[in-house]
Amino acid sequence: MPRARVIIDPNSTVGVVQRRMFGSFVEHLGRSVYDGLYEPGHPTADEEGFRQDVIDLVKELGVTTIRYPGGNFVSGFKWEDSVGPKESRPRRLDLAWHSLEPNQVGLHEFSSWLEKIGGSELMLAVNLGTRGTQEAIELLEYANVPAGTDLSEERAANGRPTPFNVRMWCLGNEMDGPWQLGHRSAEDYGKLASRTAKAMRQLDPDLELVACGSSSAAMPTFGTWERVVLTHTYDDVDYISCHAYYAEKDGDLGSFLASAVNMDHFIDSVVATADHVKAVLGSKKTIHVSFDEWNVWDIERYQVEDKVTGIGNWPVAPRLLEDVYTVADGVVVGNLLISLLRHADRVTSASLAQLVNVIAPIMTEPGGPAWRQTTFFPFAVTSQLAVGEALKVKLQSDEYDTALHGTVPVVDVAATHDAETGRTAVFLVNRALSEETTVTVDIRALGEVAVRSAQTLTDDDAHAKNTLEQRERVGLRVNETATIADGELTVTLPPVSWTALSLA
Ligand code: AHR
Repeated sequence: MPRARVIIDPNSTVGVVQRRMFGSFVEHLGRSVYDGLYEPGHPTADEEGFRQDVIDLVKELGVTTIRYPGGNFVSGFKWEDSVGPKESRPRRLDLAWHSLEPNQVGLHEFSSWLEKIGGSELMLAVNLGTRGTQEAIELLEYANVPAGTDLSEERAANGRPTPFNVRMWCLGNEMDGPWQLGHRSAEDYGKLASRTAKAMRQLDPDLELVACGSSSAAMPTFGTWERVVLTHTYDDVDYISCHAYYAEKDGDLGSFLASAVNMDHFIDSVVATADHVKAVLGSKKTIHVSFDEWNVWDIERYQVEDKVTGIGNWPVAPRLLEDVYTVADGVVVGNLLISLLRHADRVTSASLAQLVNVIAPIMTEPGGPAWRQTTFFPFAVTSQLAVGEALKVKLQSDEYDTALHGTVPVVDVAATHDAETGRTAVFLVNRALSEETTVTVDIRALGEVAVRSAQTLTDDDAHAKNTLEQRERVGLRVNETATIADGELTVTLPPVSWTALSLA
């Protein structure tokens, strides 16, 4: 049986876990918005057409900031199309996903939905693909200027006298990707992002702005892109973005379970690049990471099976990117959250991509039920328990070899401690394919504590899923093995599992 030993100390900290770490992402893509969170006529729909069953699940998930409205979609989006009387809004081609955008949900409706889910923060992306600085400042004027200007009065006439007061803005989306409308070189994008950021700050100086980093660490321009973009934008932005998606390929579950090793390396590389630019510029300012797209996603399946084509074929809300997640996928999502927590000093905002139906923790059927995917559970529990400061955890673990990430620890771990409540949370993953792993955690530095809860995501079948037919096939189980004796916590982790312990 593999073994691991962990030491935690509440005085040895990485940084405060920002609530924005538990953000998500809603893009006008597939059935994310239409036939997802918005379905007038659904038995649970409210007077605005929003599904109450989805609202309840999103609340339970515990998402904070939500990035909107894209994604690739934003690079062809005209925000003016999505405000004003619904009946006069245009139906537009969405070139990114080859769909038809009916513009029945826009800034006003989405903002109202955010209030219904408990006041999650809106993070807006501007179109720097087919549009530029002028349109970005017009949207900012519409959203944030209190009154007395053409666009702020238009907002009021559209039913919203008080400003939306959006604080966090993404300067475009994945502008390094050749698939992106208006794709640019790092030089060109860096100059445009700098000009746009400066203009936006002339209007609203305290905005928090995110420059596009690479769309993945596997891009040939990765590293150079960040260096060049930040060289142009260092004084103008607060964040550089990271995007990463992982999937089990060719049945190599061992490599897939170690995806967080890649995420760790990705974050460390972006932080090192940002700090290199800081040194070269002699700046005192530190750039943070907005990990504003991360998840498990089988991109190849989308490209082979889902892609819509044809000059006469522009469906509204087609079924796109509707990945059905396995227990192993849920374990990897839990492990990616462990990686984010480990970097809490620099990753101060993150968005699980996405939220409903599209590579999502929540699925819906038109006219039918909504349910939790396997990935829902680690996100919801981590968002609930990871409060206070992330701790520097010492880990000694048995190891195994992977084809993609070299030799990696069988166990991964992160921990948080909240000085206010005295509560500590420990998050653990067992990557062993067929063996239980016993972990001992030295908790002497915590003083007298007891186990409040111990929950594990596992199944005899690592590829078990929740589906429309079997919506509750997979769920969290109480881990009865967690015990404390003589300042040491011992817990047994089933193979391919994610566990959260709460101590107080
Ligand atoms: O989240 C799905 C897509 O992945 C987004 O639109 C894009 O930004 C990324 O490539």
